[in-house]
Amino acid sequence: MSPSVNALVLALATQALSVPTTSAPHQQTIQWRSYPDVEAELHAAFPGFNFPHPFECSSLSVPLGYTDPASEPLDLSLIKVNATKEPVLGSVLWNPGGPGGTGFENLAVQSEDLLKTLGGQYNIVSWDPRGMGKTIPFDCKFGQNGHQRRDVAALWSGNLTEYFLDNGWSQAKDYADTCYKAQNTTGRFIGTAFVARDMVEIIDALGEDGLLRYWGLSYGSQLGAIFMAMFPDRVERVLIDAVVNPHDYQIGHWGNYLVDADKTLLAFLEECAKNKERCALAQFINQTTAVDLLSTINAVLEPLGQDATTNIKARTAYVEAKAAIFSGLYFPIT
Ligand SMILES: *[C@@H]1O[C@H](CO)[C@@H](O)[C@H](O)[C@H]1NC(C)=O
Ligand SMILES: *[C@@H]1O[C@H](CO)[C@@H](O)[C@H](O)[C@H]1NC(C)=O
Ligand SMILES: *[C@@H]1O[C@H](CO)[C@@H](O)[C@H](O)[C@H]1NC(C)=O
Ligand SMILES: *[C@@H]1O[C@H](CO)[C@@H](O)[C@H](O)[C@H]1NC(C)=O
Repeated sequence: MSPSVNALVLALATQALSVPTTSAPHQQTIQWRSYPDVEAELHAAFPGFNFPHPFECSSLSVPLGYTDPASEPLDLSLIKVNATKEPVLGSVLWNPGGPGGTGFENLAVQSEDLLKTLGGQYNIVSWDPRGMGKTIPFDCKFGQNGHQRRDVAALWSGNLTEYFLDNGWSQAKDYADTCYKAQNTTGRFIGTAFVARDMVEIIDALGEDGLLRYWGLSYGSQLGAIFMAMFPDRVERVLIDAVVNPHDYQIGHWGNYLVDADKTLLAFLEECAKNKERCALAQFINQTTAVDLLSTINAVLEPLGQDATTNIKARTAYVEAKAAIFSGLYFPIT
């Protein structure tokens, strides 16, 4: 989504204190401890990185399929960093978004910022939601299932628009079929509604009040919203951050992410023009208004865009230049 709509929405569900929390007789309680092999794995994944806070892990067994009473179990790997201030007010479940973001690794890496942002009095707990990382990673095993790679020579030798009009649909079908085959035993258990059910299992097993405290970014805002819709009486407090448009997300379009991109670019160029001594771009092209800066950028991009459907070099340059601009708008460095 556009960073200009990086809104912070706080949803408070009122919860009568007298509501008893039901607990299943077989309820598990999470036993946290340090796992040297998991720590070694994380250190290997982030060589030289100094993890800011110690973390502990645990494994929780949940049903692979919630709609099947005889379902096989699924082990969720959980990670937790302790609150740094007394009194401890409970645990917050955290999801970094994606939807392919690993909560497990991200919590270990970002614990300092997360703890501080929440004020230090909450433990933070995370996990890899179904479909990624340690939990049924969604691996389509391309190359092993008869999946055909695109013919690169054909891709670049003709008119790309025509190439995609002629081949795009069949290639997308091939891609989907390959993923379906590779995931044919577990694919149907991957989805946000089951992730929300996993969260119920987690908050029950935390042995606190059985209510959700949650912070989710981006896809995590979708997850938080779905949890609240499914289990409104299980919510203590939910923070949805960097909010996605749920309709746009659900239909797989993600076009809303670009709605304000041009405005954001123009706002950046306005700041750039005002602070020329701190803006390398304005100095480089020696322009003093946002509109002049924008027309200079467009004057470079337009001819590349025109050639991009038929010329591989122009296309690569065009796509890279636009990706660099988009990435700057999506992840602004302050
Ligand atoms: C986290 O807090 C719990 C409960 O106070 C304590 O038993 C545990 O040792 C702490 N873990 C770490 C890594 O400090
Ligand atoms: C490429 O094909 C499209 C669709 O047929 C056509 O509109 C476009 O003009 C072609 N581009 C070039 C540069 O020939
Ligand atoms: C999954 O795919 C394998 C290999 O193609 C096949 O043997 C198996 O029967 C499939 N399982 C299901 C549940 O469709
Ligand atoms: C930039 O523009 C200003 C005003 O038009 C001019 O005085 C200056 O010489 C230009 N600088 C360069 C490096 O071209």
